[in-house]
Amino acid sequence: MVVFKQGGIQMSKYQFLDSYTLKNGAEVKNRIVMAPMTEMSSFENGIVTNDEIEYYRRRSGGVGMEITGCANVSEIGKGFEGELSVANDSVLPQLSKLAQSMKSNGTKAILQIFNAGRMTTSEILRGKKPVSASAIRAERPGSEEPASMSEEEILETISDFGNATRRAILSGFDGVEIHGANTYLIQQFFSPNSNQRDDKWGGDLKSRMNFPLEVIKKVMNVVKESGKSKFIVGYRISPEEIETPGIQLSETLEFVSKLSTSGIDYLHVSMGDVWRTSLNDKSDTEPINKQIKQALGDEIPLMVVGNVETPVDAEKAANSFEFVAMGRELIREPNWVEKVIAGDETSIKYKLSPTDLEDLAIPAPLWGFLTTVFRPIAGLSTEKDPATSFKEAAAPWEKF
Ligand SMILES: Cc1cc2nc3c(=O)[nH]c(=O)nc-3n(C[C@H](O)[C@H](O)[C@H](O)COP(=O)(O)O)c2cc1C
Repeated sequence: MVVFKQGGIQMSKYQFLDSYTLKNGAEVKNRIVMAPMTEMSSFENGIVTNDEIEYYRRRSGGVGMEITGCANVSEIGKGFEGELSVANDSVLPQLSKLAQSMKSNGTKAILQIFNAGRMTTSEILRGKKPVSASAIRAERPGSEEPASMSEEEILETISDFGNATRRAILSGFDGVEIHGANTYLIQQFFSPNSNQRDDKWGGDLKSRMNFPLEVIKKVMNVVKESGKSKFIVGYRISPEEIETPGIQLSETLEFVSKLSTSGIDYLHVSMGDVWRTSLNDKSDTEPINKQIKQALGDEIPLMVVGNVETPVDAEKAANSFEFVAMGRELIREPNWVEKVIAGDETSIKYKLSPTDLEDLAIPAPLWGFLTTVFRPIAGLSTEKDPATSFKEAAAPWEKF
């Protein structure tokens, strides 16, 4: 933090408030990002609801970038009810309104695009069988065995990501984030757990990188054809899996060095804590994000996330990494950045109460989710459940 005087008043300036110019020339006004968080509030067909528009509007304006919850690029890629869809052109009018609501006061609007792969059910897919790299069930209760994708389906899915990008551009988004994390289809292709193919899409580490790299290539081509040179393309990864076999950090580091030359504008590492060390190798005490930063090099900015709540937390992360994403804290405190800029840090909220819902424009399904699945860690303040900070318990959100 730099402290300086203006008109006799001592002011603090955090480096996370500095702007950052991406290599494609797009200028992001500060280095705080709203992390992708699904609110499960879209219509059954994936069309954006007005509640969602208000929820994102309430959180734009302060942060440098705002990323939507994941949007499925095809019907077969839908992961859960109430999910955003970017699978066909009928979503465009409402999606355009969403993009507009996110872009207030210079915030960049980013659409997260994904396919759930095997992390869905035939009920959610209205009778269709989930698909994945191989016909292997996820090691989770209630998971279903997916069908192994044919070559044709793989190529179609790569095109789906291209079409989703085209729709994001048409709707006025400033960028897309390719969701290669949190156990969804793109990660399923990279993982030796879910990908046991023996064709060009699976087998050794190099072949397991082919699907993610082809998706990126497709997305970059669509951007190039659109002529929107400042359209942002981010990529999100999960660095490890705890299953055997599963993604090892050494494999991720190799993948990251490939990603550094893939044309992406930023890399986003999905973790529950910015400073987490390896889950699989306890003797490795170097934070994963530091290792990823080294493998990535200085050309591409690294976005980190996990348990950042206070300006001090954010500044610590901003000392080592270019972008700091915040999830749950921005649900509770939509004006976090504005309050820091105004020097009004003492009024930043770290607790959430049911009486705040209307003011915070939290859609009912998100509230329901926070009070059930997330109950112990949602920072809720209720009689039975004394107000807890998000930091006080570990969370299962990495399945997102
Ligand atoms: C309600 C909720 C929904 C989420 N949905 C997504 C999602 O759609 N896509 C994604 O990549 N991560 C998703 N996440 C994970 C967040 O992006 C983030 O990585 C996680 O919450 C850790 O950050 P935090 O400690 O600042 O909350 C979700 C998290 C929450 C709490």
